[in-house]
Amino acid sequence: MIAIGCDHGGFNHKQMIIKYFEENNIEFLDCGTFEPVSCDYPDIAEAVCNSILDGSCDRGILVCGTGIGMSIAANKIDGIRAAHCTDTYSARMSRQHNNAHILCLGERITGCDLALDIVKEFLAAEFLGDRHQKRVDKIMALEK
Ligand code: RB5
Repeated sequence: MIAIGCDHGGFNHKQMIIKYFEENNIEFLDCGTFEPVSCDYPDIAEAVCNSILDGSCDRGILVCGTGIGMSIAANKIDGIRAAHCTDTYSARMSRQHNNAHILCLGERITGCDLALDIVKEFLAAEFLGDRHQKRVDKIMALEK
């Protein structure tokens, strides 16, 4: 299950990604916002992160205007690794090397088609483990 959320700056991309999920029978949890009205991105980041931490979702997508606010907020939450990506290579690496739970996108930065390609790459890639596990463990140890 994939959690997805946005603020007003990422609303159009969220709807576009949801359409892709629906057309491809990909299960998702829409954590809002549900209308393109000004709201605070940390609230949405928290909702998506909580759905990962409570086990109801295994990946998340957060969209705001730049992707930056969402990634800063999500990475403040213990246990979460969020990757702000503007290209498909980074999206793939964020899974393979960093075992990122959450992809952050910026609607005002990344166009629709590229954003969707980034989502597909992020969802298709798997963590490679091995030497990368030790490094991810060290990242998580930084929380303590
Ligand atoms: C909202 O105007 C904007 O600040 C937000 O979507 C995001 O880009 C913050 O990082």
